[in-house]
Amino acid sequence: MTKFFTLNTGAAIPWLGFGTGSALYGKDAANLVRLAIDNNITHLDGAQVYNNEDSLGAGIKAAGKPRSDLFVTTKLGKLAPGETVKESLKASLNKLGLGYVDLFLIHDPSPATKEGKLSQLWEGMEEVHREGLAKAIGVSNFKVEDLKVILESGKIVPAVNQIELHPYVWKAAEPIVKLAQEHGIVIESYSGQTPVARVQGGPLDEVLAQIRERLEKTRGKAVTTGQVLSKWLLQKDIVVVTTTSKVERMKEFLDTETVPDLTPEETQAIDEGGAKLHKRVYMHHVFGE
Ligand SMILES: NC(=O)c1ccc[n+]([C@@H]2O[C@H](COP(=O)([O-])OP(=O)(O)OC[C@H]3O[C@@H](n4cnc5c(N)ncnc54)[C@H](OP(=O)(O)O)[C@@H]3O)[C@@H](O)[C@H]2O)c1
Repeated sequence: MTKFFTLNTGAAIPWLGFGTGSALYGKDAANLVRLAIDNNITHLDGAQVYNNEDSLGAGIKAAGKPRSDLFVTTKLGKLAPGETVKESLKASLNKLGLGYVDLFLIHDPSPATKEGKLSQLWEGMEEVHREGLAKAIGVSNFKVEDLKVILESGKIVPAVNQIELHPYVWKAAEPIVKLAQEHGIVIESYSGQTPVARVQGGPLDEVLAQIRERLEKTRGKAVTTGQVLSKWLLQKDIVVVTTTSKVERMKEFLDTETVPDLTPEETQAIDEGGAKLHKRVYMHHVFGE
């Protein structure tokens, strides 16, 4: 992988992450993680609630790459009564077989927000960062109000906010992206392939088909609609977290790096076409539904 973004810690994060949730939720991810790393996808995205951190660790071990070549994320689930963030992360590190993660995210603000304890939870995140157990800390599924709580009360600005992001939620997500980017918080997208993988016959189908065709002619080599969607995210400075069960698709994702840029008019056509349909897959609260 040649394209990276820079986190507010100064660390480089590869633009493409391989996820072990969604299709791999609760499943053994070891083989696909190893294949992803073997194919040069070095950014891995896990979470405690996926209930497969041990297999993510096994895949990392099987690939045999130096730790410093990998970027590993996991996410904090709901804390057990009396459990600290540090204890929870240490349990994850144990399952992953790692001494640290590159990025540790609060998976969902809702449980802490309901108890009025979001600021307190972030203090726990800051502690694991200070102690070097998480090289960077961030959040996921945070809407504008949630980000403001952390920005106002925290000592450390989150490095990342990972949210569902594709053209069919763009209109609702734009204020979150704007606030985050104003504060140097990198946005990571998940479910970015929704317009091709989950919505058929949507208002974007024709727009994406025309852009795909134009890009294919421009570079003289096949371009897929999925790559158009990843380019749309990349050109908004957004990290792409996806997953696949197929080596061919891993190669296709990586090949996105060499797809020519969308024009400003093409980007605008996708923004406008996406705004005609709101289709969310996960976490209804993020977009105020
Ligand atoms: N923070 C959170 O709350 C949260 C929530 C959801 C997900 N995530 C993270 O994001 C990762 C990716 O999420 P996602 O799966 O929703 O991402 P996605 O990129 O939208 O979808 C990837 C899935 O779409 C399929 N796909 C890709 N291109 C396709 C095409 N052209 N036609 C049909 N199917 C296609 C892939 O299946 P194939 O096997 O056929 O390639 C794969 O299962 C997760 O694994 C997880 O790590 C985080």
